[in-house]
Amino acid sequence: MSTDRNPLRLGSIAPNFDAETTQGPIKFHDFIGNSWAILFSHPADFTPVCTTELGVVARLQPKFDERNVKVIGLSANGLESHQEWIKDINEVNNVEVKFPIIADADRKISTLYDMLDYQDLTNLDAKGIPFTVRSVFIIDPKKTIRLTLSYPASTGRNFDEILRVVDSLQLGDKNRITTPANWKDGDDVIVHPSVSNEEAATLFPGFKTVKPYLRFASQPGAKATTA
Ligand code: BEZ
Repeated sequence: MSTDRNPLRLGSIAPNFDAETTQGPIKFHDFIGNSWAILFSHPADFTPVCTTELGVVARLQPKFDERNVKVIGLSANGLESHQEWIKDINEVNNVEVKFPIIADADRKISTLYDMLDYQDLTNLDAKGIPFTVRSVFIIDPKKTIRLTLSYPASTGRNFDEILRVVDSLQLGDKNRITTPANWKDGDDVIVHPSVSNEEAATLFPGFKTVKPYLRFASQPGAKATTA
């Protein structure tokens, strides 16, 4: 089946769009500029899990800033509703939401980004129209999609994990490394399979070979820990 739509695959360009947000109108690619971006949707305003999620994202704002990541939320409600709900998010979580939230009541952007849920009959608006699911897109400064994920309405996301992926991607873009399971900033990394042992000796002095295809090295640029 052929489609004109830009596929939302890792490595494809994140579709551009115009949107109304709680901080004014944006053109998405201009909003991203030279930063990284996290575009995340949630089912609806004034819902319990979403209220906790947006509180967590607001609290993590300094960590996104440190990493040059702009965060932008989206739900299928209007601006007025968003503005009222932000007051609740701030109050309940003792935070100040500083990132914009896209008003997508007509589902134009959520359709473009395939965020709508046609399966979960508990996630419909009063007219029976699907709300958005909990989608996340990590997008790099070239506007390339680097991560996609989709969670059900019933399960709040772990935003520390999203930050962890940003750390892994940014480190991997600067160094010829990958990161192992459960890796976190400061842990040893894996020498990229494309790096020969000769190159590794220069790039990662003291790297350790567990198997010819599994070589560990200290994280480039990590602060030395004192015993
Ligand atoms: C919630 O955020 O709690 C929620 C939203 C839609 C469906 C189910 C739960």
